[in-house]
Amino acid sequence: MGRKFYIKTFGCQMNEDDSERMRGIMLSMGYEEAEEPSSADIIIVNTCTVRAKSEHKALSFLGRVKKFKRKGALIGITGCVAQERKESLFTQLPYLDFIMGPPALSSFHKLMERIESGERKIILTERDGDAEFPYERTYTGKVKAYVTIMEGCNNFCSYCIVPFVRGREVSRKPDDIIKECEMHAEKGIKEVILLGQNVNSYGKELGVSLADLIKKISLIDGIKRIRFLTSHPKDLTDEIIRCFGEVEKLCEQIHLPAQSGSNRILRAMNRKYTREDYLKLIKKLRIVRPDIAITSDFIVGFPGETEEDFRETLSLVEEVKFDNFFSFKYSPRPKTSAEKLPDDVPPEEKARRIVLLQEIQKRITLEINSSLIGKIEEVLVEGMSKNTKKGKVVCQLFGRTRKNKIVNFSGDEKLIGNLINVRIKEALANDLIGEYN
Ligand code: SAH
Ligand code: SF4
Ligand code: F3S
Repeated sequence: MGRKFYIKTFGCQMNEDDSERMRGIMLSMGYEEAEEPSSADIIIVNTCTVRAKSEHKALSFLGRVKKFKRKGALIGITGCVAQERKESLFTQLPYLDFIMGPPALSSFHKLMERIESGERKIILTERDGDAEFPYERTYTGKVKAYVTIMEGCNNFCSYCIVPFVRGREVSRKPDDIIKECEMHAEKGIKEVILLGQNVNSYGKELGVSLADLIKKISLIDGIKRIRFLTSHPKDLTDEIIRCFGEVEKLCEQIHLPAQSGSNRILRAMNRKYTREDYLKLIKKLRIVRPDIAITSDFIVGFPGETEEDFRETLSLVEEVKFDNFFSFKYSPRPKTSAEKLPDDVPPEEKARRIVLLQEIQKRITLEINSSLIGKIEEVLVEGMSKNTKKGKVVCQLFGRTRKNKIVNFSGDEKLIGNLINVRIKEALANDLIGEYN
């Protein structure tokens, strides 16, 4: 059997981190990474099913790599589509050699051993006891690392499939997380991003908190920056908010999905907070860190969302002045409680609302970013970026500020991996242009 693998990742940062861990394990088993699926002996498609479109994208990629089966490649599906569809995928896509869902990822080693011994049509969708997912990693060219601190979600927001495909919340032990962060620091990683579907409830079953964990990680010398995502507003405690003032390494940036500005819709979404609760959190965060950058997620066209409800979302966006946010058209998902409600906002109305929402935000983002012009920002240099200027491709460096904004600037390649001060010259909606000398 050949020794080259190719992993294609769809979906959120949790999936990216899962792919990274699979990649690490395969490299440690002596496999090499293929540049293209055409030259791989094992193709893994790590899928997302959060919206219907995410699922279609993953399945159509599988359709495209199917032809490599003829050359003897093995094809497997992992991630959230795998967990949702389970063995039915073997009927739907008979060319699949294995199916593995996120709760079973701690058994990835075992899966690979079974494949090596010639077994096919393997399906793994259950968690293997307390098994800790091994964290062999690749580091070439990396300056920051995702660190999954918990798996699963207990919230059951009425529109969301994630709890059904990622299972219940399980927190990793603080010692294991610290060990992982120390290992990253030794390899030159400067920034860690703590991941979970709802990191604010980290450690509940272990008697520790996210705030404790952040403080412990901040004692690791080499780690210069800490971030976490995603935060659920209902679990954002004063203790965590205080960390933004107390822990220097915790970057002044938070992703706090609001989903809607209408209390009626928030209730129907089972989000367990009101618009007023949300605004109170924003106020508290800005008292502790007046310059904190706040981003969010919004869904438009949830069942029963009226023009008036939508206006409430627009007014929340005007009131908070987010640095930016992601917005999505509501997509009914299997097993969720909202699936039983009529998807009654017509597609063209969802489209109109999302365009309007994004237009308003573009203006606000530009206003906020423009206020940074002339300021010096600390940038962690991540790599080279290719920009096209007047048809000519110019290579530049890029990095992120503590507020997680991308800055493009000219400079020596040797700066990659360093924290440097860059003066902001120009503001665009998606990034900044800076000057380093
Ligand atoms: N755990 C995170 C992220 C979940 S998925 C959190 O709780 O915030 C990322 C985003 O996808 C969600 O915040 C939501 O805005 C969006 N989303 C989830 N389910 C959706 C659905 N059925 N239709 C449209 N958007 C959805
Ligand atoms: Fe989905 Fe809600 Fe859990 Fe986020 S908190 S993953 S939106 S159920
Ligand atoms: Fe998608 Fe699964 Fe993440 S459904 S958003 S990959 S948890």
